[in-house]
Amino acid sequence: MVKSNGLRVVLFPLPLQGVINPMIQLAKILHSRGFSITVIHTRFNAPKASSHPLFTFVEIPDGLSETEATTEDVTLLLTLLNQNCESPFRDCLNKLFQSAEKEKERISCLIDDSGWVFTQPLSQSLNLPRLVLNTFKVSFFTNHFLLPQLRHLTLLDSKQDDPVEEFPPLRKKEVLQILTEVLDSYSDMMLEQTKASSGLIFMSCEELDQDSLTQAREYFNVPIFMMGPSHIQFPASSSSLLSPDESSISWLDKQEDKSVIYVSFGSISTVSKSELMEIAWGLSNTDQPFLWVVRGCSDVQGKEWTEAIPEELMERLKEKGKIVKWAPQQEVLKHRAIGGFLTHNGWNSTVESICEGVPMICLPFRWDQLLNARFVTEVWMVGIHLEGKIERNEIEKAIRRLLLETEGEATRERMELLKEKVGSSVKQNGSAYRSVESLIDYISSF
Ligand code: UDX
Repeated sequence: MVKSNGLRVVLFPLPLQGVINPMIQLAKILHSRGFSITVIHTRFNAPKASSHPLFTFVEIPDGLSETEATTEDVTLLLTLLNQNCESPFRDCLNKLFQSAEKEKERISCLIDDSGWVFTQPLSQSLNLPRLVLNTFKVSFFTNHFLLPQLRHLTLLDSKQDDPVEEFPPLRKKEVLQILTEVLDSYSDMMLEQTKASSGLIFMSCEELDQDSLTQAREYFNVPIFMMGPSHIQFPASSSSLLSPDESSISWLDKQEDKSVIYVSFGSISTVSKSELMEIAWGLSNTDQPFLWVVRGCSDVQGKEWTEAIPEELMERLKEKGKIVKWAPQQEVLKHRAIGGFLTHNGWNSTVESICEGVPMICLPFRWDQLLNARFVTEVWMVGIHLEGKIERNEIEKAIRRLLLETEGEATRERMELLKEKVGSSVKQNGSAYRSVESLIDYISSF
């Protein structure tokens, strides 16, 4: 039992799986160092309080309709959440302050996500320091604020694959794709409020973000902390919003070492029915077993997506692989049978794959995933890029290259080295270990 230090930290994650996981891991780190934890969360995608009996959970209404809650349009979702949650969050924070006063406890700070754009003025008015947790790679978070200045780029000329100097190693076409999702007014607010905050915390480490840390420190001009791949010490499975299919592990137990390709596109992105078919054929045409997470199709309602796959193909798929709705991803990636990960390159998935030394086949869909995939394939060289081609032959070819050919062996060797470097960051005196120590000192000093 850890001795309480009499300080309480209030956490307010955005209700997205990829944000809840790092936030709960940070809560576990802080709790292990004596802080009491309160998590304020929306009704939508509420974390499972019963999985964390040592934390206090407080729910606020988010006003989302059923249709709004199922949208894949993250920008729309964030806009609605920011509109609807400001007043309930203010009431909730005021109540927490009143009860802390009664119990003679001190709330030392608020830690929330950079996507909340109303919390900075609110915490300032209460004299409460606010730290911003960000779940992107440091270089993405920093450089994406410069994107509005790149609106002069156009798709009209032929140089779409040229690198963009201001945002390496992204290609012009990728910068243009990301730009379609940038809401300038929202982005300006986020930047202003991040700069006014008491500090930034990234779920990354120097070993992965060396290229951008100095620039980020100058740009935001606030202390920056790197919590590292904390899931190594505090697995994210307890913060899963869906129940992971544990039979994935017993199925993997029956497969040969490094033979299985794991396929998952995170918690938000889904493919269309025709793309699903191409992936199904691609997987079926290789001789490798696979574990495939399918949450649904973007253009097929409910669970009917299985009907999109012809019976004969489904039979072949079942013979060679396993399809689940949600997997215990960290355990899966850790399993000796996994040989590669066909991924959308969400930052969590990318870091989890690196930490288990699993080379990747990259199929990014949007936003920071496009940058993460370029780092995986061109900077760290620990994966193969599908270049957006969701085609059966391309998928089959990439799986063969990664699992059966010498190119795959070399990729795996580079991945082992990266795994060692990143893993050592959270060990005693590693870069993330030291950064977390200074974060604890910093929060304790408020
Ligand atoms: C999104 C963005 O894509 C990501 O880049 C950003 O940093 C956070 O928000 P998401 O698309 O869900 O997140 O992907 P990712 O960041 O990879 O997070 C998914 C999480 O869900 C991972 O921790 C992964 O382990 C977990 N997961 C995924 C499971 O536990 N089981 C599954 O079957 C699939």
